[in-house]
Amino acid sequence: MRALLTAATLVAFVAVALPAALAQRDAPRLTGNDPLPSSASVPSLAEPVTDRGRQMRNYPEQPPVIPHDIEGYQLSLQTNTCLTCHRRQYVEASGAPMVSVTHYQDRDGQMLAEVSGRRYFCTQCHVTQSGAQPLVENLFIDMLEFSAGRK
Ligand code: HEC
Ligand code: HEC
Repeated sequence: MRALLTAATLVAFVAVALPAALAQRDAPRLTGNDPLPSSASVPSLAEPVTDRGRQMRNYPEQPPVIPHDIEGYQLSLQTNTCLTCHRRQYVEASGAPMVSVTHYQDRDGQMLAEVSGRRYFCTQCHVTQSGAQPLVENLFIDMLEFSAGRK
């Protein structure tokens, strides 16, 4: 009987408490609170900020935010407008910073002549600067501040 009760308690916990705990830890859904199949109105994209120039990165491996407008820049299998300025061969004429060396490496770290497929769809990682507010409270502190505080 006792074993049965324990099992029942466990089932009840898994069924009720666990999903509740998981839901609580979830960040707000980017799609909003409407159920997925409904056609909700979509808020317009945030205006890009384009007058601040390149921004300091918060940590060395942060994909830098884009300091210019990318409206109308096509990114498809055939066309990559970003690379017409950021590819190694074109930066001399465009004045754009070259995509970094990691963009030329395959997943084994092997250097390629062309930008790797893993880094082809730029906006997977890079976003334009905008005044968007964080979705959840952000407790991030720069590593430098953190290590200075520990001395
Ligand atoms: C017409 C040329 C041109 C095109 C096309 C272009 N860029 Fe740029 N990009 C630049 C220039 C020039 C800068 C440097 C701007 C500055 O110094 O303020 C830059 C800066 C950046 C930076 C900032 C790098 C850093 O270290 O801070 C990123 C990221 C970036 N671009 C990504 C993109 C992406 C993604 C696309 C395509 C959606 C794109 N760019 C298309 C010219 C271009
Ligand atoms: C998978 C994520 C990812 C994709 C896709 C990606 N990048 Fe990056 N990018 C990064 C990260 C992370 C950094 C910073 C660290 C590094 O250099 O790897 C970076 C750095 C850069 C920089 C700064 C280079 C420097 O030395 O200052 C530019 C410019 C840039 N990316 C442009 C692009 C363009 C253009 C594309 C599309 C062709 C692209 N990135 C695709 C993640 C990505």
